[in-house]
Amino acid sequence: MGLKIYFLSCIGLILFPIACKCKVYYSERLPFDLRCSNYLSKELKHEINSYRDIVQHIMEQMQSAPLKDVLYDEYTKFIDKFGARPSGSKVLEESIDYMVNLTIKYGTDTEEVIEVKTEELEVPHWVRGEESVKMIRPRLKNIAVIGLGSSVPTPKEGIEAELIVVRSFHDLEQLPKNDVKGKIVLFDREYTDYEENVKYRIRGASKAARKGAVATLIKSITPFSLYTTHTGEQDYKKSVVNIPAGAITIEDSLLLRRLFDRGEKVILKIGMQSTYDTKISRNTIIDLKGVLYPEKKVIVSGHIDSVDVGEGAMDDGGGMFISWFVPVGLKLLRLVSKRTVRSILWTAEEPGLIGAAAYLKRHIQELDNITFIMESDEGTFNPRGLDVAGSNGARCMIAQILKLFRPIDTLTENDEPGSDITLFTRKGVPGASLLNDNERYFWYHHSRADTLSVQNKDDVVKCAAFWAAVSYVISDLSVDIPRD
Ligand SMILES: *[C@@H]1O[C@H](CO)[C@@H](O)[C@H](O)[C@H]1NC(C)=O
Ligand SMILES: *[C@@H]1O[C@H](CO)[C@@H](O)[C@H](O)[C@H]1NC(C)=O
Ligand SMILES: [Zn+2]
Repeated sequence: MGLKIYFLSCIGLILFPIACKCKVYYSERLPFDLRCSNYLSKELKHEINSYRDIVQHIMEQMQSAPLKDVLYDEYTKFIDKFGARPSGSKVLEESIDYMVNLTIKYGTDTEEVIEVKTEELEVPHWVRGEESVKMIRPRLKNIAVIGLGSSVPTPKEGIEAELIVVRSFHDLEQLPKNDVKGKIVLFDREYTDYEENVKYRIRGASKAARKGAVATLIKSITPFSLYTTHTGEQDYKKSVVNIPAGAITIEDSLLLRRLFDRGEKVILKIGMQSTYDTKISRNTIIDLKGVLYPEKKVIVSGHIDSVDVGEGAMDDGGGMFISWFVPVGLKLLRLVSKRTVRSILWTAEEPGLIGAAAYLKRHIQELDNITFIMESDEGTFNPRGLDVAGSNGARCMIAQILKLFRPIDTLTENDEPGSDITLFTRKGVPGASLLNDNERYFWYHHSRADTLSVQNKDDVVKCAAFWAAVSYVISDLSVDIPRD
């Protein structure tokens, strides 16, 4: 009885580093004014509305004992037990085994409906060593620093060089090469939004190296700081010298800029150690089999890996856990739908969507059988609705479904919602990312402050309830979410 576990093995050599992007849209409630009458028949509206009671049932059950406590207790136990789960680490693999075991624990009580398996792939394994930045001139000061993922180390003795501070790539381009050569470049870009600022994290080192710089620092990507440093993946361009790259606090970045702007000669000494190789990791796939169309899948997902600092409680422990709880929670409620509800715990999202890329490659023939793909990787604060990619017809259908969830009924439109699932939505698979009140997300993102203290039980549980109920409706409707 119970579960079948398959450990499939395959070494997918997919190592094209993509930007780790956890885009966040602070969308105002956009009026969804597409002419949906063209897309939604009376019958379909009627059918969607017939799910009102079951939606209410799922929302209520998931937000009361025992389910809410099962979810939150297991979530906090997981984070406390493993902490950070960086790509390629032993602790990440142990945490994957643990989630497989946990699925078996909650999935084997009745009929054979939940299956869990893992699929292997090769992932980057970058390990941070000792890191320090000292200001030598105009006065001595220790500057807190955090290396960026995949950064090369400095020589053992460190790099001591004069600092040059720029606000943008444009400013850097304007400088004569001789002004940059042999120096350390600090990108002190004012925070506007993650998408714009993250370009400096990802490409800063290569842009500066092209001008002859010997190391780069960026101002940490956050709108708010209590002297926190924020890491994340960076990506070297081919054919450019690889130079060390780190992030410093907003506070120190502003200090260095003020000194530089006053014409002070600023000298820094940077020491950053790290190692890099590759390891095997696994995506985890959990299926609650559909009774009518088992080959059709509604996928709900989050990533189990995290950066190496903090606890990965918010990014993406919360999103991963509520996604894990969709098939498991529905099963505990004895709710099986027409299509298969598949939860995927992606591995190695942080170094560049490596797990999702391997899954896409391996399952490329099955894209038409993905009815809808969802991801929670932008926080599990109070849920607001969905950020949706797809045709007008798809968005109209999702908008109609969201009406069952008032007030969690905001629909924003985005061709590339989320992070891992953008690989799928770009290929025409309709999908959505969880909208939530994540205005403070980047305060904690990729920093030592990403701990369970960021999370609120009622909010996480409400996200889980919404996530499960939406998945249930989409996987049970008589028609698929339409494509173009
Ligand atoms: C998972 O379960 C297996 C079999 O019971 C056990 O050997 C293993 O130690 C468990 N792993 C974790 C990480 O809990
Ligand atoms: C969908 O799944 C079924 C059953 O596995 C398979 O026969 C079919 O080829 C798949 N279709 C597509 C387009 O993926
Ligand atoms: Zn993430």
